[in-house]
Amino acid sequence: MRISVIHGPNLNLLGVREPEIYGRVTLEEIDARIGELARELGLEVETCQHNSEGEIIDAIQRAGVQADGIAINPAGYTHTSVAIHDALKAVAIPAIEVHLSNILAREDWRQRSMTAPGCVGVIGGLGADSYLLAIRGLRALIEGVGA
Ligand code: DQA
Repeated sequence: MRISVIHGPNLNLLGVREPEIYGRVTLEEIDARIGELARELGLEVETCQHNSEGEIIDAIQRAGVQADGIAINPAGYTHTSVAIHDALKAVAIPAIEVHLSNILAREDWRQRSMTAPGCVGVIGGLGADSYLLAIRGLRALIEGVGA
């Protein structure tokens, strides 16, 4: 089973970016934890980070032909991107939207996700664990055993 993890804009700055909201864990550390989980569960997991919308859409389309599921943190594009929503709907594999913070407890404009309707579910507010839970959820979903 192959899972594609897509990190959106500014997530390359984790560790130094607004640590009071996003914590001190770097993206490299998150990817290392994802790698450990992948080994534990026997999954092939590929991670990537893109700052631009087009590159995220390319990554979703690639995953659509190469992977069985997507865990995506669209970051700032969560709240604005019709095109990422459409890409998620266009591929035949399931996606879970991931957020480090609880977007529902933040600014009004951040509480709306344009991209979540293109996903089977959303996990947020648990820091790096949000990614790990999304991967476990995708595995259960793809295997058809329920989480
Ligand atoms: C985020 C939440 C978004 O609102 C924000 O723009 C991000 C990170 C999160 O993981 O909590 O960049 O997606």
